[in-house]
Amino acid sequence: MKLHISLLFIQLIFLNQYEFVHSKALIGRNVRDAMTNEFPFVVAIKRFNNTNPNYPGDLLCTGTIISSQYVLTAAQRVLSVSVHNLEVIFGSNDIRSTQRLKVARLISFLMWAYTKHITVQESTNDICLLKLAGQIPNNIQPVIMSPMPYANLYRHKVITAGWGMTNVNYPQFLQTSSVVLLEPKKCKNQIENLTQMPTDMHLHFLCTSSTPSVLLRDGDSGGPLLFAGELIGINKESYPVSDDNFLPKTVNLHLKIDYYRHFIVDTINTL
Ligand SMILES: *[C@@H]1O[C@H](CO)[C@@H](O)[C@H](O)[C@H]1NC(C)=O
Ligand SMILES: *[C@@H]1O[C@H](CO)[C@@H](O)[C@H](O)[C@H]1NC(C)=O
Repeated sequence: MKLHISLLFIQLIFLNQYEFVHSKALIGRNVRDAMTNEFPFVVAIKRFNNTNPNYPGDLLCTGTIISSQYVLTAAQRVLSVSVHNLEVIFGSNDIRSTQRLKVARLISFLMWAYTKHITVQESTNDICLLKLAGQIPNNIQPVIMSPMPYANLYRHKVITAGWGMTNVNYPQFLQTSSVVLLEPKKCKNQIENLTQMPTDMHLHFLCTSSTPSVLLRDGDSGGPLLFAGELIGINKESYPVSDDNFLPKTVNLHLKIDYYRHFIVDTINTL
């Protein structure tokens, strides 16, 4: 009987890991649950599911409320689902929150640049805005975009947050950790040391690392990178991308808010 129970237990763990494998989240020893109201502007973005509204396999990524009707997030994962099947969960650090809104429109940076006849300089612009089908209530304050020049922030502690899966199980609560913002040159060296190949550090990337490592996972993409509670970037991915998540010098890449400020402000004010 004892053996039977422990086998069942092992099987449950295994099933859980299998079920959640495609939406992994922040991993690392210093990652912790976010506190209630610590990040009121962070949302989970998932596929709408009529039969099971809390099915973990439907989680796509993380987003950041930037105005009462717009959420900023990464483009890649939300573009894999039709806009009308997207759902945003907000108002709690607990993923089972019942405060949810559907999405009316999706505006990616590339779509915006195209309609404005703006030449896109960089190749990876994994960022978009979701226009919600309703208003976020006024008691939830959108995040403020930091006016601080990046040069003043290098080597400082910054904070990131994201939903998804940890290395052991699916977190019911939003995960967060502090990381250090690396100077671009240091980041480039660190990546080149790992890949043994020359690397261009794109101008629109911010780079973070931490000892012990804290690594971004798919479900964290679109989540905020914050300094003094204000938004400086959104999460992209850890780099180099590797199945071995514990390469100690792996860095995290984030997109600079400053680089996309015109896109964000213009979209929020005109659409
Ligand atoms: C909805 O949830 C069920 C599990 O209860 C899952 O099997 C199904 O794939 C989900 N459907 C969608 C559209 O995500
Ligand atoms: C790169 O690796 C060498 C030896 O492996 C080490 O001495 C050096 O400090 C590393 N540089 C960085 C930026 O990590």
